[in-house]
Amino acid sequence: MEKIVALCKRRGFVFQNSEIYGGVNGIWDLGPLGVALANNIKKEWWNSMVISRNDVVGFDSSILSSPKVWEASGHLKSFTDPLIECKICHERFRADHKKEIEEHGKTHPSTGSGQAKWTDVKHFNLMFKTFLGPLDDEKNKTYLRPETAQGIFINFQNVLATTRVKIPFGIAQIGRGFRNEITTGNFLFRVREFEMMELEFFTEPGKDSEWFDYWRKERLKWYLNLGIKKENIKLVDLPKEDIAHYSKGTSEIWYNWPFMGFGELEGIANRGDYDLSQHSKFSAKELSYFDEENKKRFIPYAIEPSVGVGRAILAFLIDSYSEEKDRVVLKLHPKLSPIKAAVFPLLANKLPLAKMARAIYDNLKSSIRDSIAFDERGNIGKRYYSQDEIGTPFCITVDFQSLEDQTVTVRDRDTMKQERIKVKELSSFIKKKLD
Ligand code: GAP
Repeated sequence: MEKIVALCKRRGFVFQNSEIYGGVNGIWDLGPLGVALANNIKKEWWNSMVISRNDVVGFDSSILSSPKVWEASGHLKSFTDPLIECKICHERFRADHKKEIEEHGKTHPSTGSGQAKWTDVKHFNLMFKTFLGPLDDEKNKTYLRPETAQGIFINFQNVLATTRVKIPFGIAQIGRGFRNEITTGNFLFRVREFEMMELEFFTEPGKDSEWFDYWRKERLKWYLNLGIKKENIKLVDLPKEDIAHYSKGTSEIWYNWPFMGFGELEGIANRGDYDLSQHSKFSAKELSYFDEENKKRFIPYAIEPSVGVGRAILAFLIDSYSEEKDRVVLKLHPKLSPIKAAVFPLLANKLPLAKMARAIYDNLKSSIRDSIAFDERGNIGKRYYSQDEIGTPFCITVDFQSLEDQTVTVRDRDTMKQERIKVKELSSFIKKKLD
């Protein structure tokens, strides 16, 4: 993890937020390469969940909403974590994080027992509070959303009324969520502000188990297709006692994190009709569905795959990080690589080489329509390694032969093998490889 965190900072993937002021715990900023990686992950998710299907539509609800939303959803009452405070230094911990509590206890030998003294467990609501309008009073209090899902449920009827969707269908959205986590940590794993990718897939009651199973498998396949190693990822069905009271079943996709072993990357929940029923009750609006074909009305069940973009970034970075004899390589799936190809003139001070390389770079930029790098500094080996470290799948070198026969070398990141390709075929060659 230390090496990955250092790489992320050195190469501009991730920076600590407010670093010049000492940093803020659990809040991170994405640098130029980080935002490119995040965008590629989101694009792949959106393509697989919305664009490539005819039964899912996209959505983008707001971060702020009526506080009633959180009352109805149950977040106001029960989106809490158990909190205890060390009476000696007033540091706060999650009461269910036994290992951290034990470790902390060891730092207070002055108590004689070598143990910290703890307050009773309190329940701490994780929602960030804010105010709508200029008055900071109870009446105007609302919350930053802790999940995007509720924005979908409260718009269920709007989507039904304005599109041609019929059950079964889904509504997908990518957006920010905020949680005032008691303890943050492990880099992007547990943070206080993060983007999430969520789908609510609505089904007829009775058909929910089938769809739940379908989405569990689909989501696992998505990670495997994007290169996550089979041995590092698995589907786990949670026992009844570990899931929300309204859930009919929850599975998680677990990744083998270096800091904790297998643990949650994504959740897939069968939320039943809980959310639509609650919003219907609290708003006194009809949120049921009429099945024209079978002439029956019901409140649909929702199957929900949900994952944090940051957690996915972390899994893809960890899984692709590899140290070889004299290089570090991010063996990212080319679709996720922040930069798709880099162009180098063999010698920067030879004008015809530099000119030809620039022309190839400009051409690739417009034909590939993705990030292409140009590098003319230092020796060629160093330029290759610099691109390997950020996961660029192809490096193109313009050398003296290029001037004679209009060919270039294309080096493959993973095999380090080079092939000579005609300049006029370069863009279709790269496109084919990226696909
Ligand atoms: N709407 C369902 C929902 O919010 P969740 O399990 O609380 O479910 C979904 O969160 C996903 O969001 C998790 O599987 C994880 O990937 C990510 N996530 C949750 N809390 C997070 C945090 N504090 N920091 C980073 N990612 C988080």
